[in-house]
Amino acid sequence: MLQKFNPKNADIQIYVGDGLYHRNEAKISVFDSVVQGGDAVWEGLRIYKGSVFMLDRHLNRLLESAHAMAFQNIPTKEEIAHTLYATLNANKMYDDVHVRLTLTRGEKITSGMDPRLNSKGLNLIILPEWKPLVYDNTNGIKVITSSIRRNSPSNLDSKIHHNNLINNILAKIQANFADVDAALMLDLNGFAAELNGSNIFIVKNNALITPFADACLHGITRGFVLELAEQSKIPHKEKNISLTEIYNADEAFATGTWGELTPIKEIDGRAISNKTGSNILSKINAAFDANKAQFLTEIPKSISL
Ligand SMILES: Cc1ncc(COP(=O)(O)O)c(C=O)c1O
Repeated sequence: MLQKFNPKNADIQIYVGDGLYHRNEAKISVFDSVVQGGDAVWEGLRIYKGSVFMLDRHLNRLLESAHAMAFQNIPTKEEIAHTLYATLNANKMYDDVHVRLTLTRGEKITSGMDPRLNSKGLNLIILPEWKPLVYDNTNGIKVITSSIRRNSPSNLDSKIHHNNLINNILAKIQANFADVDAALMLDLNGFAAELNGSNIFIVKNNALITPFADACLHGITRGFVLELAEQSKIPHKEKNISLTEIYNADEAFATGTWGELTPIKEIDGRAISNKTGSNILSKINAAFDANKAQFLTEIPKSISL
């Protein structure tokens, strides 16, 4: 589903570096590291009914990514949360909102790769947008397998949630040319890693299976789904999954913050057909809704910049 411009986002205020700016004025220097080399880390978060979902887990992943990239003077979780709340309050955004939170290595004194050229400190960007779930979670999505392999830790560790997204963008381009919604990326051994922007699960013999988090992002939704399966006593495991196993799965679905849980109805022209009548996705969906409240952090309305 191609996202469209939402007129509700025409006048949003975006936090960039030192303050809030109207979207037309929210700019970043051409010397910023994210422009020069994708040298930044990021998180996508969702806001539901006045609260941020999984805030602590997202901030932990952001800070771990920043530490792995040897960023200096990383803001604390409290500082980032404060700026996030202030940005949401300024926009009066409390539901149906997606936030793209980016931390760049900051501005360089001259163009170049070397982090020693960065002397101005990190740059925090908080971009909140009115954004409903991005996929059709009722009818599901069509997927192709990309010829672009997902990075292994020997190339670029996907435990770093970085802005160098060309690997995934090339896969998405293949999906676009094939006129489907997303691309499945394999790892270097030919096992499924993840879709270009979300994790993948299959169901076979009433058990939930997902690839090891070796060549995929250790998605927060993925982790939550595994916890819900454990709690709901649904058999589940992480393992290497081949394409043939996916073609013959009873159910397949994608997980991610911007689409939540999305059924995959077709992959490489093969329909995912449920031979056993299993209903694991609907059980996980119900458990997701029932347990969501525990992971919501209320936005304090009094906070401003
Ligand atoms: C490549 C990739 N895989 C999976 C995900 C889903 O992760 P999460 O559930 O933490 O949103 C994302 C989200 O940013 C992603 O970029």
